[in-house]
Amino acid sequence: MIYADYNGSAPPCLEVCEYLQKRLAPGAPFANPNAIHKLGKKIFLGMENARAVCAKNLGAKPFQLTLTSGATEAISIVMHSLIEQATSLQKKTIICSSIEHSAVHRSVQYYEEKYGFRVLWLPTLPSGVVDINMLETWLIAHHKDLAFVTVMAANNETGVIQPYREISEFCQRYNVPYFSDTTQIIAKDDFHFIDSGMDYAVLSSHKVGALIGSGLILSKNPENLRELIIGGGQEKYKRGGTQNYIGMETMAVALKAFQEKYKERLKDLKEERIQFEAQIKKMFPQVVILGEEAERLATTTYLSYPGIHGQAVQIELECQDIFVTTSSACSDNLPVTSKVLKSMNINDSIGRGVVRISVGACAPFGIYQHITEGLVKAYKKLIPINCPEQSQF
Ligand SMILES: Cc1ncc(COP(=O)(O)O)c(C=O)c1O
Repeated sequence: MIYADYNGSAPPCLEVCEYLQKRLAPGAPFANPNAIHKLGKKIFLGMENARAVCAKNLGAKPFQLTLTSGATEAISIVMHSLIEQATSLQKKTIICSSIEHSAVHRSVQYYEEKYGFRVLWLPTLPSGVVDINMLETWLIAHHKDLAFVTVMAANNETGVIQPYREISEFCQRYNVPYFSDTTQIIAKDDFHFIDSGMDYAVLSSHKVGALIGSGLILSKNPENLRELIIGGGQEKYKRGGTQNYIGMETMAVALKAFQEKYKERLKDLKEERIQFEAQIKKMFPQVVILGEEAERLATTTYLSYPGIHGQAVQIELECQDIFVTTSSACSDNLPVTSKVLKSMNINDSIGRGVVRISVGACAPFGIYQHITEGLVKAYKKLIPINCPEQSQF
C-alpha cells in the first residue's frame, strides 16, 4: 500500500507509535492533569514538559502554547478572540486570502454575515502566491479599520508557500494583527514562530505525525486570547475542558523527531519529487503542475491532465493500492474547480483533473517511484477513453 495523502492526515511517525506502546501499557500513569493529588501532579508535570518540548521545536515559549482538539478549533478560538478585540476597538474590516482552508474561510464568512464585518478577499497571482502588492495597498488604505489580516503559510492543495514573513512585517508596520493558518507548513518545512513575526499560528496533531485529536494555538501574547470553549479554567482560562495530555505528549515526540531526524530528509524528498514531476511531464506533456513556478512544500504535488477527471485517476490509483486525493469539492456529484484554483485563474478542464499527491518527511524513500508507475498506468488507461485524439498508447 502506498499512502500519499499526508496533507489530509499523516500517519503517526515511528517514534510516536513506539512511545504510545509504552505510554498505554497496563499500569502506565493516568489522571486528570488538573487534579491536586499526586497522580494528577505527575500527569500535569508530564504535560508541561511536553509543552516545553513542543515550544522548543516550534520556536516559541511554553507560555505561548494553548492546547486544543485540533487546528479547526484553534482557528475558531483565534478568530473569536480577534473579533472580540476588533469589536471593542470598533474596527470592522478583515483581509482574508482567497485560498484559505474552509476552517478560516467559513469563519470569516460567518462574522461577515452575522456581525456585519466587511471582508476584503485577497487574490492570488496565477503562481498561487497571494498578491502582496495588493495587500500593502489595502493595508495603507484601510489599516485604521482593520480587525486583522489572515493569510495561510502553505496551501493545503497546491503546497505553495506564502510570503508570511513579509506579511508579518507589513502588518507590524501598520499595527494590524496577523493570523496565519500554519497547519500545513509545520513539520513539512522550517518554521520558527517567534521569528515568523505572526501574532497567531496553529498546529494540528494529525498533520505532523502525532496522534489525531489535538492541536495548538501559538500566540505572541496569549493574554489576548478570549475564551470560546468555557469550562473549568484549564489552559489559563483560554480553553476549557480537560486537556488531551497524551495528545500533547505525542505532539512533543513527533515535533522532536522531525527536528532531529526527519527534517534532513526533506532535501532528498524534494529531489525525488522534482524527478517524479519531470518524468510525468516528459511522458505526458499535457500534464500541468499547479503552483509549479512558486516555492512549494517539498512534499506536495498537485497535478492535472486536462480532460481527465481527477476522481477517475484517483480510482485507478486506488485499484493499484495507491491512495491520493483530488481535493475538488463536489456538488450534485459533479466535481468542480476548487476556489484555490479559481483564484489562480485555472480553467475547469484543468481544475476538474486535479490529483493531489502529498507525502511527509517520514514517508519511505522510493515512494515516488511507485507513484510514477501507478500514474503512468492510470493515464495510459484513461487517455484513450477520455482524450482519444491524444492517445499514442
Ligand atoms: C490548512 C488547513 N487548516 C486547517 C485544517 C483543519 O485541521 P484539523 O483537521 O486539525 O481540524 C486543515 C486540515 O485539512 C488544513 O489543511
